[in-house]
Amino acid sequence: MYPMTRVCSKQLLPIYDKPMVYYPISTLMLAGIRDILIISTPQDLPRFRDLLGDGERIGVNFEYAEQAEPKGIAQAFLIGADFIAGSPTVLILGDNLFYGRMDFLRDSLKSAEGATVFGYPVHDPERYGVVDFDSSGRVLSIEEKPAKPKSRYAVPGLYCYDERVLEFVQGLKPSARGELEITDLNNLYLEMGELRVELLGRGMAWLDTGTPQSMLEACSFVASIESRQGMKIGCLEEVAYRMGFINQDALIRCAAEFGENDYGRYLRDVVNEDPAPLRL
Ligand code: G1P
Repeated sequence: MYPMTRVCSKQLLPIYDKPMVYYPISTLMLAGIRDILIISTPQDLPRFRDLLGDGERIGVNFEYAEQAEPKGIAQAFLIGADFIAGSPTVLILGDNLFYGRMDFLRDSLKSAEGATVFGYPVHDPERYGVVDFDSSGRVLSIEEKPAKPKSRYAVPGLYCYDERVLEFVQGLKPSARGELEITDLNNLYLEMGELRVELLGRGMAWLDTGTPQSMLEACSFVASIESRQGMKIGCLEEVAYRMGFINQDALIRCAAEFGENDYGRYLRDVVNEDPAPLRL
């Protein structure tokens, strides 16, 4: 993504009308998650803190931790060990955008044991972790960025783990590129017979924003839906209000922060909308 990311973390770049990181945070919030640890580089972390603060204004708790070197996605659990404190955990990557009903995520959080990952059909699976199925549809393995993908099902950057995750990550060995691979962690759960792979199909959008082209597509997607419906995707203040994390007064205070701009006007419209039931 260079030079776009030369002075700014990718996850702070805009996707249409808001910073990229708003989208994955809204996904967690829509699943009812209110304790969120943001992990980024020492250089970028202060910017995330400036943007998101402690979360109180939207009824969530944001904490922050540095990943000093790019040692892999699974290192997040070592970095966040105190934060997790032996609870089940959801990990979402800051550049993954989900759109649709979040029931699939809420449902997977009901499973007490094991881990859940998802499978989503894409035309370019070689860019991702890819699910390998046998002829009966049983999952055999997940392969990280295979040159010859064995299926079209990519594994999105959204993972649910039980409270043993830290113990398993502590046993992982760094891969050839020196990283603790999330795919190795998932395969460990799979070998124990404790990995669920839930396939997401039509009706859900999973967009990643890892290349300029996919970023442009994500911007167009968000712009199309927002302009057609007049409803925003990934608007943290609105999600907080609809999820009952904040009351109307708190939403009015959030709207006031943005003054007369479009975002502030939108939040005021949410405050003043008909009480007609709106599905999340
Ligand atoms: C990571 C994971 C990969 C996953 C992808 C989803 O890849 O390693 O398994 O499919 O996120 O976005 P990265 O984007 O870090 O290359």
